[in-house]
Amino acid sequence: MLEVKNVSYAYKTKKDKTILNNVSATFEEGIFYTIVGPSGAGKTTLLSLLAGLDTAVKGTVLCNGEDITKKGLNYHRKHNISLVFQNYNLIDYLTMVENVKLGGSGNAEKLLEEVGIGKEYWQRNVLQLSGGQQQRVAIARALASDAHVLLADEPTGNLDTAASIEIMEIFSELHKAGATVIVVTHEENIAAFTDRIIHFSDGQIIKDEINENPTKGSGKVHMKGLYRHFQKTAGTESGVVGC
Ligand SMILES: Nc1ncnc2c1ncn2[C@@H]1O[C@H](COP(=O)(O)OP(=O)(O)OP(=O)(O)O)[C@@H](O)[C@H]1O
Ligand SMILES: [Mg+2]
Repeated sequence: MLEVKNVSYAYKTKKDKTILNNVSATFEEGIFYTIVGPSGAGKTTLLSLLAGLDTAVKGTVLCNGEDITKKGLNYHRKHNISLVFQNYNLIDYLTMVENVKLGGSGNAEKLLEEVGIGKEYWQRNVLQLSGGQQQRVAIARALASDAHVLLADEPTGNLDTAASIEIMEIFSELHKAGATVIVVTHEENIAAFTDRIIHFSDGQIIKDEINENPTKGSGKVHMKGLYRHFQKTAGTESGVVGC
């Protein structure tokens, strides 16, 4: 479980402007969330606090009840959180496989297969790929770590409708496999894929909506035996517990 408790935030350069205003929210393990809201509402800022990329001015971010600063933000970023961005953030002079390997020790080739990228592409430079393919590589890279929470900031923002749906189907599959997925989006049809829609405005949550009937995927995305690392590991020998 990932939580923000009474979190307030202002950028150091603009201390008088409150970006997040006493925000509290709980992100339960295995639930698929979207955060929606107008530009400038503070969505990316909230995601960066959840990811441990920055710290709140007031309040705390908790992973399974423990303040993430206790083990340290580096630990949180390495073990608990995977990130996916709108512009993919791939290294453009590396191949697909090399990019995925940057994410962690997961099997890069297998992960690429699982997100639907065939062998014939693996040694290609990432700039020779479509936007949808680049985003799949970015998701594979996110899955190469041992993290259980996937945070995605407008992951379909640069994609056409078909590619956007494919990406959301991959997230749906990951969610079914037990991942906690939190996606920031502007688009209603993207939010419709998720269980919970958190509406954000002016640095505050204004509505927390339960979506009883999330959009189902087409079933075209096939990921067999997938993402075992998302299965709940609480109480296992390794003692690893995702947020
Ligand atoms: N590095 C920064 N320094 C100062 N102010 C910033 C910085 N980054 C963002 N802001 C301001 O913080 C506010 C919230 O920004 P944030 O990026 O979190 O919004 P957002 O909801 O993600 O918007 P969008 O939908 O356009 O991505 C905005 O008013 C923005 O101008
Ligand atoms: Mg943003």
